[in-house]
Amino acid sequence: MRLGFYDSGLGGLSVLKAFIERFGNKFSYFYYGDSANAPYGEKTPQQLLELMKNIFNFMQDKDIDLVISACNTSSMYLDQIDKDDYPFEILSLFSAMKKFFTTYASTSPIAFLATQATIDSKRYLEWNVEIYPIACPAIVPLMEAGDLESAKLAFDEYLSQVPPEIKTIIIGCTHYSFLVENRHKIKYNFIDPAEIITSQFADSVYSISFVRSAPSDSLNLDLSFHFTKGDQVYFQTAQSLLAI
Ligand code: DGL
Repeated sequence: MRLGFYDSGLGGLSVLKAFIERFGNKFSYFYYGDSANAPYGEKTPQQLLELMKNIFNFMQDKDIDLVISACNTSSMYLDQIDKDDYPFEILSLFSAMKKFFTTYASTSPIAFLATQATIDSKRYLEWNVEIYPIACPAIVPLMEAGDLESAKLAFDEYLSQVPPEIKTIIIGCTHYSFLVENRHKIKYNFIDPAEIITSQFADSVYSISFVRSAPSDSLNLDLSFHFTKGDQVYFQTAQSLLAI
């Protein structure tokens, strides 16, 4: 089974990484990073729909069996795409989170760090938990430019906006997953949609026969990438983020 992942650039690699760590070479993987159009967080809903259609059209010719939207921002609008236009099913981070919150009971507010477009979509209102949204527009451009150190500083700055009584944070953009360090985990409980969608996938009909067998290592991976823009340095950043 060949899985396709997509994001605006590097962020979705956190979802791909979670899948590879869980399933190793039991699947083959294709990753599409739309770096020419990053950041998605500044795009309008109409633009996001067009960008998603471009990606799915591209993936049609890549023998993909199932697409995993590794981009929170666009997944907020995925239900406006006509799935019958494509030969694969598409799993969305937003739907995974919605499912997660049907069983996750929280009476305390949860901070939601995400892109401006994700916050503006207001879809988090469907989760039935009290959300404290914080848009973090500075992070993705810094990461896409390869400046991880500045991105980490920006992440710290946004975390400082979390009210002191809030102890749980949703990492609402796949780029941010790479910025969470142990020192943050001492202070907060993080909910990472990348882990949520990986666990739900493991429980799903798609992979049930695979996860019953022993996990495999990440050697001999069938893994390919397509970035719409990027030089050698960009590709090296991608490799080091994936770190497999
Ligand atoms: N990494 C994506 C997300 O999860 C998109 C970020 C962006 O391009 O602004 O939202």
